[in-house]
Formats: sequence, structure tokens, C-alpha cells
Amino acid sequence: MKKSFHFLLSVIIIIGITACGNSDEQWVEEHGYGPITDKLELSEIDSDLALQGKQIFDSYCAACHALNSQISGPALRRVVDKRTPEFVINYTLNPRENSENHPIGQELSEQYSAMMFDTGIDKEEAIAIYEYMRYYNEHRADPEE
Ligand code: HEC
Repeated sequence: MKKSFHFLLSVIIIIGITACGNSDEQWVEEHGYGPITDKLELSEIDSDLALQGKQIFDSYCAACHALNSQISGPALRRVVDKRTPEFVINYTLNPRENSENHPIGQELSEQYSAMMFDTGIDKEEAIAIYEYMRYYNEHRADPEE
């Protein structure tokens, strides 16, 4: 009896989780605040796009970030494993709201005395930077020119 009750309870919980799967709150928890509000389709890593991403990264992000080491901002290679692509891109495009209101951003803000500001890049550029992170994470090296 007890066992079947537990089974029933877990079924109800699973149904509950599935039913709430698309709620805004759960989306934000997993993917952050920002303009990306739908799942991105990722294809094979594109090395040309990764190279463009590296150039954008060098201009807009490298003052505070490296992929492999922590400088005034966190090392970014592992975000590919730790976070969803949508989270990384939302954070890139909308750092203030995420560092102020998202639990992950709040924790990072406590750890880092620097503060990320809006770099003004657009969605395509942020996606290219993410491709560079994916490339680097896979090859442990920069894309070749
Ligand atoms: C002025 C320094 C600065 C610049 C420029 C900057 N960042 Fe940041 N970034 C930070 C700091 C500090 C944090 C952590 C705390 C916070 O959000 O302020 C952070 C956090 C992040 C995170 C979240 C990391 C995680 O673990 O989830 C991502 C992703 C990120 N930055 C990407 C970028 C990208 C991409 C660029 C360039 C377009 C960039 N940042 C430019 C300082 C910077």
C-alpha cells in the first residue's frame, strides 16, 4: 500500500513537472533573463563562425574574460558544460538583469568584485561567441585563421 502510494505520488510529481515545463519562471531559472526565449537548435560546430566569435570575443570580452583562466570575470570555457546555450547567450546580452536578479548571477556577483556591463553586441554576435566557446571546449584550442 505504502509503495503504491509513493508510486502514485511520483507520477503526480512527474506530471506536475512536465505541465510546468514551459512556464516563464522555469525557463528563466534554466536559461536566464534575456531576448532568447526559445530553445536554440545547435548544429555541428562551425569553425568559420567560431573564428568570427573569437574576434568579437577579443574586442568585447577579453578585457575581463579568458576562456581558461579567471581574470576580473570568470573563466568561460566551462559554461558550455555548466549552463544551457540560451543561458550563456542571455547573460551575454543582458548581464545586468541576470547579475541582479538571477540566482546564478547573484552568486557570481558576490564572487567577483568587477561587474559585467552591457557590451552592446547583438544576438548574432553573441551566438558567434558561443560558437567560439563550443569550439574551444571541444578542441582546447582557438580556431585557425
Ligand atoms: C567589465 C568586465 C566584463 C566584460 C567586458 C564582460 N564581462 Fe562577462 N562577466 C564579468 C563578471 C565580473 C561576471 C560575473 C559577475 C557579473 O555578472 O557581474 C561576468 C559573467 C559572465 C557570464 C556568466 C558566467 C557563468 O558562469 O554563467 C557570461 C556568460 C559572460 N560574462 C560572458 C561575457 C561575454 C561573452 C562578454 C563579451 C561580449 C563579456 N562577458 C564581457 C565581467 C565582464
